[in-house]
Amino acid sequence: MCGIVGYIGSKEIKNELIEGLRELEYRGYDSAGIAVMQEGNIKAFKAVGKLQNLKEKTKNFKTIGPGVGIGHTRWATHGKPTELNAHPHMGKYSYVVHNGIIENYREIKSELEKDGVQFLSQTDTEVIVHLFEKEAANAKDIKELYDAFKRTIDRLDGAYAVLLITQKAPDTIFFARKGSPMIIGRNPGGEIYFASSDAPLIGKAEEVAYMEDGTVGYATPDTIYSEPKPLAFVPLSGDKLRAQKGGFRFFMEKEIYEQYHVISDTMIGRVLDKDIAFEELSENFLEGISRIKICACGTSYHAALTSSYLFERQAKMPVNVEIASEFRYKDPLLDTDTLFIVISQSGETADTLEALKMAKSAGLKTLAICNVDNSSIVRLADTSILTRAGIEKGVASTKAFATQVMVLWMLSLFFAKRTKAIAPETVEGETSFMHQVPRVLKDALKVHEKCKRLSKRYLHGHGFFFIGRDIFYPLALEGALKLKEISYLHAEGYPAGEMKHGPIALADAELFTVALMPKTILYDKTKSNVEELSARDSTILSISPEMFELADDFILTHPHTHPMLEFFEMMVVEQLLAMEIAIRLGNDVDMPRNLAKSVTVE
Ligand code: F6R
Repeated sequence: MCGIVGYIGSKEIKNELIEGLRELEYRGYDSAGIAVMQEGNIKAFKAVGKLQNLKEKTKNFKTIGPGVGIGHTRWATHGKPTELNAHPHMGKYSYVVHNGIIENYREIKSELEKDGVQFLSQTDTEVIVHLFEKEAANAKDIKELYDAFKRTIDRLDGAYAVLLITQKAPDTIFFARKGSPMIIGRNPGGEIYFASSDAPLIGKAEEVAYMEDGTVGYATPDTIYSEPKPLAFVPLSGDKLRAQKGGFRFFMEKEIYEQYHVISDTMIGRVLDKDIAFEELSENFLEGISRIKICACGTSYHAALTSSYLFERQAKMPVNVEIASEFRYKDPLLDTDTLFIVISQSGETADTLEALKMAKSAGLKTLAICNVDNSSIVRLADTSILTRAGIEKGVASTKAFATQVMVLWMLSLFFAKRTKAIAPETVEGETSFMHQVPRVLKDALKVHEKCKRLSKRYLHGHGFFFIGRDIFYPLALEGALKLKEISYLHAEGYPAGEMKHGPIALADAELFTVALMPKTILYDKTKSNVEELSARDSTILSISPEMFELADDFILTHPHTHPMLEFFEMMVVEQLLAMEIAIRLGNDVDMPRNLAKSVTVE
């Protein structure tokens, strides 16, 4: 994973670039670099290691007046983390920064070498700048330069977010994006920013456009031109303080509150008006697939388990879900008609990565559902679907889970359509429910005050049971995990119908039952299970659109006509409740004891 930034404007360009890179440093810190162009002269600086080294190196460099610049913070993929391999990469009169992987770079490189081009680095990126200069050799104006840039981009296979500057167009940044994120921000007066996430743009740009895959274009102080369609700018709310969690007490809280926003990003280009599409999945890739196996850990495993209900119900495909650390050592039987899916927020979880390696070496087709572009898991899998949740800083996963479940719901519909397990009208109907998810996630936040008030009653006792049926069973597991990891209270998730087979022995007034009681799935059955617990004196907190007379406490949810909408709303309730209980107990919600955000050990 790397981070890129760009700037067009009159502010101190070096500072704008380095400040942007600081927000992206989490994406990689093997090296960093900038290239700044003023009046057709380009100056570039690179430094190995953290951004601080680049800052030191450029401390005497200043720009006065308008110009353009690009910057990069690198997480090495091709070539060691050396200064020569650091971006920006230069040609004779142009510089490029790139996030992603150019899969066919060897082929392009040998073609360029035959033309006499000398490569300075071992990176895949360097081909872009030389290819551009070859294409632009006779270009005389911006139109011809842009055509040369487009021809260059057309040649690239793989994932990329690219920014390119050239002395032939001194006030211009050329940009392209496929598979790797890129956002453009603008201010009145022709000031323009580019970045790999919106964090560097907060407090800098008034409006931003989240570029869709396949976008190519160029920007000058006077114009932003893009294909295949104009960029859709929206106001960028928040300021730097808020980006640093300011308005919220914890990153976890901020991340719960931004779920309705990021889930729209997850859906862009995939949930269409009346259809569902995944350009990540070609027909060729899916040929011969008749079953699915999913491997993941923790919260990602809960998302996987949720999807097993959806795949079987909608797509009529057999699905098997496994905890990655178990799967690895059970000598699993693997068949090549199986699509092997791994789910991971970080893309670095050791057990999930190893499970993926096993599936690959058994010859299975592999798909990663992941939040971190260019992570180890994304790079290893045959193909990947990025969840687009943005950086998740809270150790307890919230928005990553929401976006994983959304991708899996979309995927189950995609397969259902592909296998013709459902009629086209059903596809259309499902997508109309999907379009309601952002609103549901937003409305769900209204229970926050209620969760805050209720939390004071749930600070002791000898444990919690979260119970639910069907997809609300994995949601119960997730609710219990959220609570235990940040509150350190004992909590278990259970299928509601399973309580009587043992766990009900624990029931008394000090046992708290959080009952997920959706109206759209098995309401009466769940209700009977909760009644059984209530009869044994368990304290009941019901989460339901219906008042449940035996509940000691209740959180009323909105009525919905689709189980997934109830699912997403109850997910928010669980997250808020766990967070409020943990806060009341005085815990550091963002950094709970004994845990780490990325589990790279087995
Ligand atoms: C819980 C949580 C963990 C992760 C698990 C897998 O809130 O975040 O259970 O879900 O460690 O991590 P990823 O998804 O990065 O593979």
